[in-house]
Amino acid sequence: MTDDSLIAAARRAAENSYSPYSGFSVGAALRFADGRVVTGTNIENASYGLSLCAEAVAVAKAMADGVRGGLETIAVTGPGREPVTPCGRCRQLLTELAQLGGSDPDVLCVGPQEVRRVRLSQLLPDAFGPANLV
Ligand code: THU
Repeated sequence: MTDDSLIAAARRAAENSYSPYSGFSVGAALRFADGRVVTGTNIENASYGLSLCAEAVAVAKAMADGVRGGLETIAVTGPGREPVTPCGRCRQLLTELAQLGGSDPDVLCVGPQEVRRVRLSQLLPDAFGPANLV
């Protein structure tokens, strides 16, 4: 799947966003080395602090399906004027999955005008990961 198709998958996922409180619909799509693509969208809650980010949902879906690494590319889309970059918690969640397979995925932060491409390790330098616990 191309980067454009991955971005399109993230945008499609955002159509299922449950974000009545913020009105900010986010889509995430994870591409793995075996070609598999797993998507997520944000799910809010009347108890606001319990809301789940799109990236967290995508990571949980992938891991619940048994995926453990091979994460190559992440696309994140939002409705704003600026590209969406994953929040701090999501950077940590994505890093766990990436480090399980020893990868440092590209993150495509998608806005209406531009796609910003950064490495996950740039978004979360010196990350605490599984290797720190041994
Ligand atoms: N959100 C995400 O889904 N991912 C991020 O990386 C940033 C924020 C969601 C959480 C909340 O539902 C809405 O965007 C506004 O913060």
